Amino acid sequence: MTLINVVVEKVTQEAEGIRSFVLAKKGLFKLPAYTPGSHIDVHCGEGIIRQYSLCGDPDDRRHLMIAVRQVAPSRGGSDLMHRDVAAGDRLEIGAPRNNFPLDEAATHSVLLAAGIGITPIIAMADRLHAIGGSFKLHYFSRATNHTAFRKRLEQGGYADRVTFHEGLDVQSTGQTLDNILRQPVEGGQVYMCGPAPFMDRAETAAKAHWPQDAINLERFAAKPALAGAPAKPFTVELARSGVTLQVAAGETILDVLEAHEIDAAFSCEQGVCGTCVCDVVSGQPDHRDSFLSGHQRKSGRVMCLCVSRAAGEKIVLDI
Ligand code: FES
Repeated sequence: MTLINVVVEKVTQEAEGIRSFVLAKKGLFKLPAYTPGSHIDVHCGEGIIRQYSLCGDPDDRRHLMIAVRQVAPSRGGSDLMHRDVAAGDRLEIGAPRNNFPLDEAATHSVLLAAGIGITPIIAMADRLHAIGGSFKLHYFSRATNHTAFRKRLEQGGYADRVTFHEGLDVQSTGQTLDNILRQPVEGGQVYMCGPAPFMDRAETAAKAHWPQDAINLERFAAKPALAGAPAKPFTVELARSGVTLQVAAGETILDVLEAHEIDAAFSCEQGVCGTCVCDVVSGQPDHRDSFLSGHQRKSGRVMCLCVSRAAGEKIVLDI
């Protein structure tokens, strides 16, 4: 993938542990266009690549904004971004990709964000406001000082459609989600982004009342139960070359492809970004990602090579 060189123009402490970074393209060339819900790969240094949602103004083709939460224990990227990246530094990024698109034709959109999950959600709210769409945004955070972009949301043109839920315990969060999602709207959509416990609870509340195809999620990390499930060895056949490879219990398909110097695109290696999605020719996938939709999962025609496995003894891929 072609990388884009950008300069960090501004770093802002948006909340405790959350900083935003405005990335600028110098010279005459514009940055690629993107739609709300898009993310970019950021090469944070030391070979670490992380995905961050874009939360700035898509019409500003000279700048991109991301926000990063310092995670403890950090997987490296957030630490590097908080510790080492300052205004004036250069970074490499990938072109924007959207795995969490907004349906602008929906009759109403319920936007649910928790913590740093506000980043794609605020971009959706900006867009829906700009096009006159009907929506409500609910933002859950530990406390006011952990609420990123509070001023932007309070003082923006759609402040009356934003509700802050700050400092709720687990039970109150669940009850609040149940209340918000109790009344499905014909032709409406629900979008949710946040940490795993919030997503699990919000997904359960949404599934109780909304049709599956109205529920849109973006997870930061694979569901732990999926990632830690027992793994058996299996055979993978590459249909285009006819090559057959063995995947041991402790390996992924991606590991084996790399070991044999067979090119395959990947990024997060956690089953959340969708970069490694591959067509399945035959065999049943054992899906362990948090990226594919329920419909894609059921079809068995695609799978994520970084975490998913074969349910049986063999799987044939369109590689
Ligand atoms: Fe991100 Fe596989 S590399 S889903």
